[in-house]
Amino acid sequence: MAPLASTLLASLSRTIPCAMFPLVLAMLALGAPTQITFARGGEPALLPDYIASSLGQYSPYYDVDLYIPPPETCHVDQVNIIQRHGSRFPTDSASKSLEATIAKLQNPQWGLKGDSPLGFLRAYHWDLGSNDLVAFGAKESYDAGSTAFSRYASLLSSSETLPFVRAAGSQRVIESATNWTYGFGTASQFTIIPLAPLIVSEEIGSNNTLNDNNCPAADKVIADAAQAKFAALYFPSITARLSRTVGGTPSSPSLQLTDADTVNLMSMCSYDTVAKGVKSPFCGVFEPEEWPLYEYYQDLGKFYKNGHGHPLGPIQGVGYINELLARLTGTPVKDATNTNTTLTSNPKTFPLDRPLYADFSHDNQIASVVSALGLFQAHSGKDTGASTSLLLPTDRIDEKRKWVFSRIAPFAGRLVVERLQCGKSQGKGSGEAYVRILADNAVQQLDFCEGATAEGLCALGKFVESQGFARSNGDGKWALCSA
Ligand SMILES: *[C@@H]1O[C@H](CO)[C@@H](O)[C@H](O)[C@H]1NC(C)=O
Ligand SMILES: *[C@@H]1O[C@H](CO)[C@@H](O)[C@H](O)[C@H]1NC(C)=O
Ligand SMILES: *[C@@H]1O[C@H](CO)[C@@H](O)[C@H](O)[C@H]1NC(C)=O
Repeated sequence: MAPLASTLLASLSRTIPCAMFPLVLAMLALGAPTQITFARGGEPALLPDYIASSLGQYSPYYDVDLYIPPPETCHVDQVNIIQRHGSRFPTDSASKSLEATIAKLQNPQWGLKGDSPLGFLRAYHWDLGSNDLVAFGAKESYDAGSTAFSRYASLLSSSETLPFVRAAGSQRVIESATNWTYGFGTASQFTIIPLAPLIVSEEIGSNNTLNDNNCPAADKVIADAAQAKFAALYFPSITARLSRTVGGTPSSPSLQLTDADTVNLMSMCSYDTVAKGVKSPFCGVFEPEEWPLYEYYQDLGKFYKNGHGHPLGPIQGVGYINELLARLTGTPVKDATNTNTTLTSNPKTFPLDRPLYADFSHDNQIASVVSALGLFQAHSGKDTGASTSLLLPTDRIDEKRKWVFSRIAPFAGRLVVERLQCGKSQGKGSGEAYVRILADNAVQQLDFCEGATAEGLCALGKFVESQGFARSNGDGKWALCSA
């Protein structure tokens, strides 16, 4: 063992229970995650802002705002994080479709010209993996853990107050959680090392509040239709522009590029960039004014699949909200949707005494959670997630919408619910409890909470009241999930 590691272990033995050594050793053996010299904020950006923040759920993580500390008379005494896995390869099905688009363009009969915007494809080889976290995504998660430590370390004064970490069962989610933990532990100089995450199965039939696998009746029909309507209006001109640059031979019919191919080529800008760590040539194919169309197209997909726009969108986030309310109020979970009572009734698998909880999940589930909460309505107004009266238009970009998915759940995107104690004297137990919510670092206005302040504070009691949709188990909607 390297001398540094053994010194480290000697000092660790004073602070860490023996049972944790295997994890510590594994971390030391792995070393730091691959260092990559790009990231937004400080280091050179991977992509220019106008692209990076227009990639919807495929945007690499970016801070939407600088972190604003709570008002001076308040201090944070509990933190609940729900975070998406970091940047990943395309899913299996997406990979097939992306590869097919590329193969179509590479067919020699089109004689792709080197100087056309797509000319780089002559020498491009598809070499992306599928499903898994990429090194950049591991780093996003590691950095998030490091940030969480530096922001909230003062809450964790002893080993009994270790963060409690859970992860949905996909490998990329688990690895995001462990990289977060590693970032957290490293930032603490290995004095606070969270235990390995509790993994909640994503198998069909498993009750999981960190994944949207519990609502078989929720399909993609509405989302597909919304995206198709928008695409049919705005993508043909882009598709035509691309087709013109490809050409063909006089004797062969012209290339049949579709709008779906165009969307694929735009998605490749993100996938290829996060996989390789350098700006992908796919990004240069598109004009600046074309990216907002892509973003809105992706926003529609999430809004109408798991968000406010689907009758069964918000309901899928209710179990998580009920767990959150339990933590915030320090009382047992009351839920009749998708919580697993075996887990939530056991303090080992659902403790209520931790100052910091970190849950790792997926973009679709986070879309359901924010919608159940009442955040990111299409527009300002009071609504707690049960209503679908405020919908995003599908015939134009709604420039005033709050639902911008790259600001909700980009890769490694996170929703952070802080519980604050506010009052003149800040001793333990004194003052009044409040809730503040940050999405990707930006403090949210809690319109749904009575008496919410301009600083985003909502009295805990009023916050609980505002979550009537969750507390009623979704006003009867849960039954429709399996109808
Ligand atoms: C971080 O993620 C990478 C990539 O998925 C993985 O190979 C590695 O094991 C993870 N590291 C830790 C400490 O979990
Ligand atoms: C609940 O969690 C327990 C413990 O992890 C697991 O054995 C069981 O299968 C889960 N049940 C459901 C319905 O998810
Ligand atoms: C899983 O959820 C179903 C539906 O709400 C519920 O009937 C069942 O008791 C839950 N199982 C566990 C182990 O919590």
